[in-house]
Amino acid sequence: MNSSAGFDWRLAPYDIALSRAHVTMLASRGIIETNDSVAIIGALDSVEAELESGAFEFLDTDEDIHMAIERRVTALIGDAGARMHTARSRNDQVATGLVLWIRAHARAAADACGELETVLLALAEGHLDWALPGYTHLQRAQPVYLSHHALAWFWMVNRDRNRFLAVEAASKRAMPLGAGALAGVNFDTDRRMVAKELGFDGVAVNSIDAVADRDIALELLSAHAICATHLSRIGAELVLWSSQEFGFMSMADSWSSGSSIMPQKKNPDAAELLRAKAPRVVGHLAALHGVMHALPLTYNKDLQEDKEHLFDSAETVEMSIEAAGLMLATASFNREAMAEAAGDDLVAATDLADLLVGKGMPFRDAHGVVAALVRLAVESGRGLADLTESEVTEASALLLPEYSGLLEPGQTLESKRSEGGTALDRVREQLGSAHAAHLSLG
Ligand code: ARG
Repeated sequence: MNSSAGFDWRLAPYDIALSRAHVTMLASRGIIETNDSVAIIGALDSVEAELESGAFEFLDTDEDIHMAIERRVTALIGDAGARMHTARSRNDQVATGLVLWIRAHARAAADACGELETVLLALAEGHLDWALPGYTHLQRAQPVYLSHHALAWFWMVNRDRNRFLAVEAASKRAMPLGAGALAGVNFDTDRRMVAKELGFDGVAVNSIDAVADRDIALELLSAHAICATHLSRIGAELVLWSSQEFGFMSMADSWSSGSSIMPQKKNPDAAELLRAKAPRVVGHLAALHGVMHALPLTYNKDLQEDKEHLFDSAETVEMSIEAAGLMLATASFNREAMAEAAGDDLVAATDLADLLVGKGMPFRDAHGVVAALVRLAVESGRGLADLTESEVTEASALLLPEYSGLLEPGQTLESKRSEGGTALDRVREQLGSAHAAHLSLG
């Protein structure tokens, strides 16, 4: 139960990097001999190679990766190795290694989001004027262009990317190392030298806070949770859209699976999994909040329970972002099916109401007039365009002569010309902003 070596081996490269920086500093301050620091660094290089090649042997007695590495270094070089842990504690060591791991994975998630953005921009550009219904309450509401919908996904992912980059930036602020167990160490160390070497802008100002703090872990998990939730919404839409009921798109064969019994089926498994991974990631965030909740300062072994949540969350989210991109890049959309669903002229109801508003009728009254027309059409199994002139005039004479023109396909889309709307010019303008946002994050 006590051992974390089975999972915290993922911290190995960061643990080795921080040990190199630490012993170099110790030697420069005269706390250990230079030849000892040179021997330690040489041994760390060997251990790193062993870990990378899989030759490294873990022992049952290795409580965690930090002890395993120190044991091996000491086995390789004897006394010098035993000096590696001078002026530090596993408490400040694990806090620092973890921040370095978080920094790398915040960047990995941000980069994956950047690639997904590229796919979404291409999707928007390739389907600029392909109409489909926009939905509220999963009821056809107003038609939009697929480009506009793809860009809605883009902005979700772009915010995720910004959040991951903010976590990466936060991970550079304050290095815990040098705090020792909790109170500082009995040596005149140079923390700033180590910080600089490890890419930190500064050192944790308070040694108690340094070893007790796991904010950055909560921050990465929060960013993961929001991102996974976004991907679940995209996944859910892909599941709906690729169903025979919608028929708006089909997944590439490589992104769907056949049924073991029903030959006609093509299941959007990966999109379904995007949908279902989110609660697992949000669960990891909730679990770490639980670990941190009411935890007395400073280090408690409880903090070892931060790792598996982080590791699984990063693996799940990084994979999901990548999968979403590959899935969308290979999906194909059915222009006719989408246009037919969007061509239902009931979706122009708001435009008719706005026509009346333009002629001086209060919006609430206009809403009532058009609702009555919609009822009439639906009850008699017709579209709005099939109503007779006298039926329309009876509802309100103000609807003429524009009535039938407003029901022309495409009309309702192009009338959504407010900034951020679906009219083509506005989508083109939005694409410009999206490209700029995409490029500005490098
Ligand atoms: N494996 C431990 C963890 O993950 C490292 C720190 C152990 N410190 C201690 N005082 N027992 O938190």
